[in-house]
Order: sequence, then C-alpha cells, then structure tokens
Amino acid sequence: MSTPKRYNPWLVTIHWLTALLFILNLLAGTFVLKWLPNEAAKITPLASHMTIGILILVLTLVRIFVRLTTPAPAHATTGNALLDKIGILTHYLLYLGALGLGISGLGIASQAGLFQSVFGAAGQLPEDFYVFPARYGHGYLANALILLVLLHIGAALFHQFVRKDGLLSRMGYGKSQ
Ligand code: HEM
Repeated sequence: MSTPKRYNPWLVTIHWLTALLFILNLLAGTFVLKWLPNEAAKITPLASHMTIGILILVLTLVRIFVRLTTPAPAHATTGNALLDKIGILTHYLLYLGALGLGISGLGIASQAGLFQSVFGAAGQLPEDFYVFPARYGHGYLANALILLVLLHIGAALFHQFVRKDGLLSRMGYGKSQ
C-alpha cells in the first residue's frame, strides 16, 4: 500500500475533537477550576472537567489504536534534521501527556473520593486537593502540556505559512492519494 497524503478520516475527526476538548480543559483548569474554593458551587464545573477529561482519555486510547492500525503520511520535514526529530518527539509527548493527565486526574478522583462526591449523593469536596500526591503530578503535567500544545500549534503554522508545504491538509478530509 502506498503512503497516503492524509491521515485516516477517523483520526482526523478525533484529532480536532480532542484538540478542542483538550484546550478547553487546560484553560478552564488553569484559569478557573484551580482558583475556585472547594465549596458546593464547584461541583458542577468539576463534574464537567472530569467528564471531558475522561472523554479525552478514551478518545486518546482509540486514537492511538487507529494511528497504529491505519496507514499514515510520511513524517513532515522542515529541512533541518534536529527540528524534524523535535517534531516527532513532540507528537509522542503529546500522546503521553494526554494519557498522563487523564490518569493523574483519575488518581486525584480516586484519592479524594470524587466519584461519590461529584457524581453521587455525598456532595462534600475535600478542603484541599494538594493533600493528594496525584494533584501535584496533574498540575505539573498540565503546565508542561500548555507549552507543548503551543509548540505544536507554532510548528503547524510554521509549516503552513512559512514553508508553505500544505501540512494542515494532512489533518483534513479529502482523497487520500
Ligand atoms: C486530558 C484531560 C485533562 C486536562 C487537559 C486537565 C487539565 C487540568 C488543569 C489545567 C488543571 C489545573 C492544574 C493546575 O494549574 O495546577 C486541572 C485540575 C484538576 N483536574 Fe484535570 N485535566 C484533565 C483530566 C482530568 C480528569 C480525568 C480528572 C478526574 C477524573 C481531573 C480532575 C482534576 C481535579 C480534581 C483538579 C483539581 C482542581 C483544583 O485544584 O481545584 N482532570 N486539570
């Protein structure tokens, strides 16, 4: 089978859906959730954050499966071997980061009994999430992921508008050849 010009349409759909949900959870977590006092009014935003986070985790697992089982375009090139290696590494780190955020989020939820308090009848949040070790991992990873996402978007724009190699069409719909 020859190398396709684009990614599998399922992968394209999951990519853009995850990108939207991921950026939403990163921004809402960093600028809103983290600053809300752990009172009753936090239950609804926390429930949305956890639901979106779990959805991202499931979509990422499906995405890795689709990526490994369908043909993909060749790695993009910038003309610089080091930058090309950084590009490949960034993609691996984005997958790992998405999995790590989902898993550490589930870690906080299980350590803090959030499935009962947020989705069940208990309704009481712990005073401080930082008594749970997973909360630190989740926070550090989230900050690293903000930088990685910015690098990823910057690189895509560099390809598209400086190198003008039409890179974005690979993550779009259309004929694969
Ligand atoms: C990939 C998906 C996720 C992203 C992008 C994400 C992002 C974030 C961010 C940016 C923060 C604030 C961190 C900080 O600046 O210190 C945060 C906090 C938090 N997240 Fe997530 N998260 C995800 C998944 C989850 C999941 C699956 C759960 C639980 C099931 C979860 C539960 C929490 C909790 C409990 C907090 C602490 C809020 C607080 O300190 O008040 N997250 N998340």
